[in-house]
Amino acid sequence: MFSRIAGTGSYLPEKILTNADLEKLVDTNDEWIRTRTGISRRHVVVPGETTTDLAERAARKALEAAGVEPGDVDLICVGTTTPDLVFPNVGTLLQRRLGIHGCAAFSLEAACAGFLYALGVADKFVRLGDAKCALVIGADTLTRIVDWTDRSTCVLFADGAGAVVLQPAKEPGIISTHLHADGKYKDLLLYPDGVSLGFDLMRAGKAGVRMKGNEVYKVAVNTLGQLVTKTLAANGVSQSDLDWLIPHQANIRIIEAIAKRLEMPMEKVIVTIGDHGNTSAASVPLALDTGVRDGRVKRGQLLLLEAFGGGFTWGSALLRY
Ligand code: COA
Repeated sequence: MFSRIAGTGSYLPEKILTNADLEKLVDTNDEWIRTRTGISRRHVVVPGETTTDLAERAARKALEAAGVEPGDVDLICVGTTTPDLVFPNVGTLLQRRLGIHGCAAFSLEAACAGFLYALGVADKFVRLGDAKCALVIGADTLTRIVDWTDRSTCVLFADGAGAVVLQPAKEPGIISTHLHADGKYKDLLLYPDGVSLGFDLMRAGKAGVRMKGNEVYKVAVNTLGQLVTKTLAANGVSQSDLDWLIPHQANIRIIEAIAKRLEMPMEKVIVTIGDHGNTSAASVPLALDTGVRDGRVKRGQLLLLEAFGGGFTWGSALLRY
């Protein structure tokens, strides 16, 4: 038994923040942001708009694309690091919105690799026969925890959600997933406060995403390079067999480095970072849905998905769409 993606969906908040808008907030400029990151604009939530709001819109589109009803869903697995509430989890809040009851619904935290982690977990539920219609989501509102006075991070992050429906299949579908983490890198990229620390920094207005950008960049390129090579080797697949690379959208230069490692022309890479920014766990399913809906990604094609995030966490999936 395998799992296959039966439908995809995504949603971006309506409000757009351009590089020109950011020039009014911090000492930055459009040229620096575009050349160093590839980002021109990004979508951001407005007050009152939550991760579950974005996840619900993306989920409904994925369900529609898969031709299934909310009542068919028997597993909800959400990758997010920016939940609406401490509990109930976003999966459960989404289950309530969809008007369904009883199926397992949970969120897992793996920062920007959250969707790959959710996909890896849900794939195993489906393969084992424990789910027949799994809703897998990556959704984040990182702009809620960004330090808007820190120009080195606030220009990067954005909000959004992406979703896929997984169903059982006799043929893959998802060929393999590869999930990894190394907590030794904690201090390179983190939000330094939380529930059991008492939110003291946040209350004092001293929290916010912290990142050693240069060091993150080097580890990301190196780690993702090894990951994509390992993913192909594990399946005896050559890089020339790939139809599409669907990477985490953190920085165009990281994306280009991985494409180069795979000897893939940029025409075979789905790139959304220019309009989306880094939407964390939403980034990969947003890019996938973009490629599917604009007709580039077609049924039967071989896709390589990869992501890297705080922790560090990283993961990949090789799949036939
Ligand atoms: N606007 C203008 N200047 C900026 C700036 C901004 N928004 N942010 C930083 N700078 C300045 C720095 O202060 C520094 O100035 P200095 O040379 O006078 O000290 C200069 O630009 C270069 O900074 P540096 O950090 O070396 O730039 P960089 O080329 O490494 O690019 C990142 C910075 C963050 C874009 C890059 O390191 C990166 O993308 N890292 C990976 C981040 C990532 O992927 N995070 C998410 C992982 S999920």
